[in-house]
Amino acid sequence: MIQKISQAELDRQQAYARAFSSLPDRPRTYHIVTYGCQMNAHDSEKLAGMLEDMGLTRAPTREEADFVLHNTCCIRDNAERKALGNVTWLKEIKKERPSLLIGVCGCMVQEKGMAERILNQYPFIDLAFGTGNLHELPGLLFRAAQERSRVVAVPQEQSTIAEGLPIRRESPYQAYVTIMYGCNNFCTYCIVPYVRGRERSRTPEDILRDVEGLVKAGTQEIMLLGQNVNSYGKELPGGWTFARLLSEAAKTGIPRIRFMTSHPKDLTDELIRVIADTPAVQRHFHLPAQSGSDRVLKAMNRYYNRAQYLDRARALREAVPDIGLTTDLIVAFPGETEAEFEDTLSLVETVDYDSAFTFIYSPRVGTPAAALPDQIPPDVAAERIDRLIKAQEKHTEARLNSLIGTRQEVLVTDRSRRDETMMTGKCGRNININFEGAPGDLGRILPVQVTSAGKTTLRGIRLED
Ligand code: 5AD
Ligand code: SF4
Repeated sequence: MIQKISQAELDRQQAYARAFSSLPDRPRTYHIVTYGCQMNAHDSEKLAGMLEDMGLTRAPTREEADFVLHNTCCIRDNAERKALGNVTWLKEIKKERPSLLIGVCGCMVQEKGMAERILNQYPFIDLAFGTGNLHELPGLLFRAAQERSRVVAVPQEQSTIAEGLPIRRESPYQAYVTIMYGCNNFCTYCIVPYVRGRERSRTPEDILRDVEGLVKAGTQEIMLLGQNVNSYGKELPGGWTFARLLSEAAKTGIPRIRFMTSHPKDLTDELIRVIADTPAVQRHFHLPAQSGSDRVLKAMNRYYNRAQYLDRARALREAVPDIGLTTDLIVAFPGETEAEFEDTLSLVETVDYDSAFTFIYSPRVGTPAAALPDQIPPDVAAERIDRLIKAQEKHTEARLNSLIGTRQEVLVTDRSRRDETMMTGKCGRNININFEGAPGDLGRILPVQVTSAGKTTLRGIRLED
C-alpha cells in the first residue's frame, strides 16, 4: 500500500514556510544548480516552488544568491565529482560572504554514508537532505536560517509520495509529470534503486488531475516521468497499466505526450497498440539496451536477451513505422570482452537508432557490479566508447538525412542560440528543427518542411498551417 505524505505533515511544512518569512536574517534569494536526469530537473521545479512559497525570489546566478541549493546526481562518478567540485568552489565565496547558505540535496545525499561524509568533510555545507525528504525543505531551511547551525536530514526508507507540492515550472509550454518514483529492477551497475527506493506509482486520479490542470493552463506537451514507466500501476488496485494511463492522459486533450524511461522487459504489445492509435503520443521511443551481448545483459540483470530486445524494437517499428528509436548503452562493464563489445556495436548497426547516449561503466559503491572481478582498464574503455560513438554517428546522420523533404510538427520552444531570427523546437521524433520564424511562434505547434540536416539537428522552412 502506497502511503501519501499526510495533510498534517504538509500543513506543518506550510507553517514553517509562513514562519520563515518573519525571520529577520533570512535568505531572500535562491539559486538552484541541478545535475542529472529529468526527474531531478522536475524535483528542482518543486524545490523552487517551495522556496518561492517561503517568499524567496530566484537569483539569476549563484554569486548573487543568499541560498544556493545543489540538486545532485550520483549515477556515475563524474556527476558526483562535478557536484562536489562546484559545492567546494562556493566555499571561497562564503569566506567573503559568511551569510551565504549552502545546501545539497538529491540522489548523492541519499547514498549510504554520504550524510556522515558531508558532516565530517564538508563543514561549509549548511543544509543537506535526501530525495526522500524533499517535501521537508521549508522546515529544514527554517532551522538552518534561524539557528545558523548545520542541518543534515536523510531518511533511511523511501516509501512515501508527496502530493500537492507547489511547482515552479521552467517552461510554460512543456511540463514534467511524475507518474512513479523509485525502481525495483536492481540492474547490477545501477545505484538508482538504492537512492530512490522501491517503485511507487502515483494514483491515476492525482496524475490526471495534474494533466487536466496543465491543459487548462495552455501547456502543449507533457513528459510523463518514472525510472521505469512501463511497470506503472503494478502495485495499484484496479488493473492500471502504463498503456491505460497513456490513453487516459490523451483524453484530457493535451496536444503532445512523451514519456521516459522504459524498460524493454516491460514493453507490452498493449502499450505499442496505444502508441500507434493515439496521435498525441509522440513518435519517439527511448528504449535503453545497455548492451548487445547476451552474457553482459545477464550479468547486468536486465531480464532480456538480445533477441528479445530486437523483437521489441521490431514490434514498435512494425506498428509505428515512423517512430524514432533512441537508447542508452554502457561500454566496459566488468569482464566485457572485445567480442562482447562488438555485439553492442552490431546492435547499433542492426537497430539503426536516431541517437544513443553512450556511457563508460562507472563502478558505484554498494552495487553488485562494483565488486565483480575484471574491471576494464580506462584506456580500453575510452577506445571502445570512441568506436561506439563513431558507429552511432553514421546512423544519426543517415536518419536525419532521411527526414529531408518530410513535413514535421514542431513545438516551438526557443530562439536558436546562434541566430536570433531562427526559432527552434522539437519534432515528434524528438529532434531539434531550426527554421526562420518570429517570437510570436513560441509555444505554438507549427508545420515545418525539413530542408537540410546537420550532425544532430535539422533545418526547415515553415509551412502554412
Ligand atoms: N555506469 C555507467 N552508466 C550507468 N548508467 C546507469 N548506471 C551507470 C553506471 N554505473 C546509465 C544507464 C542508464 C542511464 C540513465 O545511465 O545506461 O540507462
Ligand atoms: Fe537503474 Fe536499471 Fe532501474 Fe534504470 S531500470 S533506474 S538502469 S536499476
